[in-house]
Order: sequence, then C-alpha cells, then structure tokens
Amino acid sequence: MISQKMQEALNTQVNAEMWSAYLYLAMSMDATDKGIKGVAHWFRKQYEEEMEHAFKIVEYLGSQLAKVELKAIEAVPTTWENPLEMYVQALAHEKKITSNINNLCGQAIEEKDYATQNFLQWFVNEQVEEEASVQEIIDTLHFIGDDQAALFMFDNSLKGR
Ligand code: FEO
Repeated sequence: MISQKMQEALNTQVNAEMWSAYLYLAMSMDATDKGIKGVAHWFRKQYEEEMEHAFKIVEYLGSQLAKVELKAIEAVPTTWENPLEMYVQALAHEKKITSNINNLCGQAIEEKDYATQNFLQWFVNEQVEEEASVQEIIDTLHFIGDDQAALFMFDNSLKGR
C-alpha cells in the first residue's frame, strides 16, 4: 500500500498525462486542417502514447489498492502557427512532465517507497526518449526553414512513425 500523499501525487500525474494526450490530439487535428498529414499522424501517435502513460499509472494505483481519481482536464489551445511552433511547445511541455516525474521520484525516495521508485523508473527513461525525439524534429525543422519542398518530404517521412 502506498501513502495517501503518493496516491494524490500519482492521481495528479494521471491528469497531466491525459492533458498531454489532449494537447497532442489538438495538435494532430490542427495539422490535419493545415494539410500536413505526417505531422498529424505523428501527434496522433503521441496522443495514443500519452493515454497509455495515463493507463499505466491508473493500473499501478489499482495494483496498490489505491483510489483512482479522474480530475477535470483543462482545455488546450486549438491552433498553432506552424509545425515548428507545435514541436517547440511539445518540448516545453515534455520538460514540465520530466520535472513532474522527477518530483514523484523524489517523493518516493523520501518515503522509502521502493515499489513506486521502481515503477517510476520506466517513466524516467521514457522522458529521456521523448525529449530527444522532439528535439531532433525541432532541429530538422530549423534546418528546413522556409524550404517548402524539404518540409513536404520531411512531413512524408513522419507518416512512417
Ligand atoms: Fe507521458 Fe510525453 O509524457
């Protein structure tokens, strides 16, 4: 059994993961509107991953016989200037999520909650991957700049995710 404080913190993270899903779904829909189908696909996949992250925590809470509390999900923006703006915002958001995960780890260490420390390790690794993959796309988009042909080709490559 985990502490009440840890239950609450994990429930807050369920909400944060679902908000992430919501954000990326909105980006996917905006990319569809803009005709950038690869970006739309990439964010749709990201939406699915974030829902999986939320479910992972829900299942962990369940396995610890802890209460799962689904809180309201705040509204997200609906439009972005271009793909670069989407990915820059996604990276800023992922850094915030990394900080949340680190705080959860800190709390688990403080409470000598070894099960939760072990559970969170997957998220620690996942955040490293997520930040790196988004950063790579940002770097590529900077490189592409205003070259529409290059952007078209890059967008196509994202369909393979
Ligand atoms: Fe679930 Fe992208 O952090």
